[in-house]
Amino acid sequence: MDRTEMREKLEKKLTQKRYEHSLGVEYVSGCLAMVYGADVEKALTAGLLHDCAKCLTGDEKIARCTKLGLPVSDVEKKNPELLHAKLGAYYARTKYGVTDENILSAIEFHTTGKPDMNVLEKIVFVADYIEPNRRPLNEIAEIRKEAFTDIDTCIVHILKNTLSYLETSTAQTDEMSVKTYEYYVKKRG
Ligand SMILES: [Fe+2]
Ligand SMILES: [Fe+2]
Repeated sequence: MDRTEMREKLEKKLTQKRYEHSLGVEYVSGCLAMVYGADVEKALTAGLLHDCAKCLTGDEKIARCTKLGLPVSDVEKKNPELLHAKLGAYYARTKYGVTDENILSAIEFHTTGKPDMNVLEKIVFVADYIEPNRRPLNEIAEIRKEAFTDIDTCIVHILKNTLSYLETSTAQTDEMSVKTYEYYVKKRG
């Protein structure tokens, strides 16, 4: 399936707002790939599809993962929102014909990141946070600049903001976000 077909299909599955966000992440992923020497086409595809499973209710997300035999942790049960990433990777493979493992894993880890990400995983993680349609978040101008100049610093900055936001809200922190944060803080020394 080429990206035009993917877009047509995706548009039917997402709300207008989520679709526009996806286009934003698609283009920003492509730009970051140019800066960091990653495969631009793969980055565009991963960015476009990263939220393809987003517009389902929490119960639907849990039900589909269970049916498909995808593991659901306790934190994910309480925050089914988190499941859209691994469910998205599954749908990218089965419904959008993506076979490239790097694209699939960039989709799977776009929400939490993970320690020692490859360049495509970093790109989609960052693009999701900085794309221009997002409503402005704390320190976004600085984070956007870091995205294009020092992506590891940018990752730490994003996770620091996300984790401190989660502390003040009822949403639970996924263990993986904490692990990612600690890994990149250490890596930067
Ligand atoms: Fe997402
Ligand atoms: Fe997203």
